[in-house]
Amino acid sequence: MTVRTLAIASDHAGIEMKAQLKTWLGGLGHEVIDLGTNGTESVDYPDFAAAMAAAVTEGRAERGVLICGTGIGISIAANRHPGVRAALAHDMTTARLARGHNDANVLALGARVIGIEVAKDCVAAFLATEFEGGERHSRRIAKMG
Ligand code: RB5
Repeated sequence: MTVRTLAIASDHAGIEMKAQLKTWLGGLGHEVIDLGTNGTESVDYPDFAAAMAAAVTEGRAERGVLICGTGIGISIAANRHPGVRAALAHDMTTARLARGHNDANVLALGARVIGIEVAKDCVAAFLATEFEGGERHSRRIAKMG
């Protein structure tokens, strides 16, 4: 297993899953930067997507995990930031292919949609998989800027 520097962030809907994933990832030896939120107060997911975008594009984190209720809002918000390729996954196949084909650097999860074990499977696949590279995938990613 490659040890990585990761960032993790969520809105209020994702705090419990964030805490569980942070503990689990730390136990595996990864360095995990927690970008919040850290309370149950209602917050706006675009603010945490922006914090993640900064962490990834500035090189403070190799890859990131974002969580909101569905994973939809926070992935849409993250993808508005140049240099972020955020992929919403509900299963490990999608998480794996998001890396292999799309070179996703952020994984988005929906805490109200999947349970913690499926979330761990998604994160594990996301971290274990390298971009396949090759002209076809690279060309398509280049077209997205
Ligand atoms: C917050 O209630 C909820 O709307 C948010 O977590 C997310 O699901 C949005 O896409």
